[in-house]
Amino acid sequence: MFKRLKLNKKVKQPTENIRKERMHLLTDKSSFSTIEEYKALRTNIMFSTTQTGCKIIGITSANASEGKSITCLNLAITFAQTKAKVLVIDCDLRKPKQARLLMIGSTPGISNVLVNLNTIEETIKPVQVGNASFHAMPSGDIPPNPSELLGSEKIKEVLEQLAENYDYIFIDTPPMNVVADASVLSKLLTGIILVVRAGRTERDAVQVALDQLNFVGANVLGFVLNGVSSRLPRKYKGYSYYRYYYRHADEDQEEA
Ligand SMILES: Nc1ncnc2c1ncn2[C@@H]1O[C@H](COP(=O)(O)OP(=O)(O)O)[C@@H](O)[C@H]1O
Ligand SMILES: [Mg+2]
Repeated sequence: MFKRLKLNKKVKQPTENIRKERMHLLTDKSSFSTIEEYKALRTNIMFSTTQTGCKIIGITSANASEGKSITCLNLAITFAQTKAKVLVIDCDLRKPKQARLLMIGSTPGISNVLVNLNTIEETIKPVQVGNASFHAMPSGDIPPNPSELLGSEKIKEVLEQLAENYDYIFIDTPPMNVVADASVLSKLLTGIILVVRAGRTERDAVQVALDQLNFVGANVLGFVLNGVSSRLPRKYKGYSYYRYYYRHADEDQEEA
């Protein structure tokens, strides 16, 4: 039932690729506007999640490669900078990215915990990005049945246990319009954030993802508009339903 795939070897990319990906991580060397946008996003999330105790926040998007993983990690970084106790969990069990971004091993991780192969303690790693210190739980071995694992009773237990030790848990997920994993998880979350990639995500795709989230009763905290450039096509200026709006400048301009 649980396959230990060779995929972890494939996940390891040449150093140059990792370096390029890590360029988008938030540090004190990031542009002033990027730092400010993340601070604004942090404030908005704080205002939208005022209940006491740990806040568990999912990050998703309509399709692949829209910036979920980068946004998830940057949120962890910006919250960790306030000295909050922060954990990132990579629940994209199909195309995990956090271990690579953080340059830690991808196993054991959450999938291993969910099938009782490892304890929570065995999978959590302390990490540091710039001046931000927090914890990360990688994806673990790639299972054949991610949706089932993410919809299991066990994940509820695991999150409840983790919530006792953290102020914020940020969960990276697969794309909404491709697989059901994020919808399945959403009932366990304090809220979910939808990343929209400027110049790439179609309005209809966002609507499909949003309809699905509303259908499952998810608490959609808002949208993050990722990869904004001055060359943003006019059609994107018409978005009116952002509850908050975060502009991560397309620093290398290659994706706009
Ligand atoms: N604002 C941005 N500007 C330029 N490239 C970006 C930006 N955000 C993400 N990327 C790049 O886009 C690719 C997909 O990002 P990622 O966060 O892995 O997306 P997802 O998790 O949605 O699949 C990565 O190569 C990442 O470096
Ligand atoms: Mg990802």
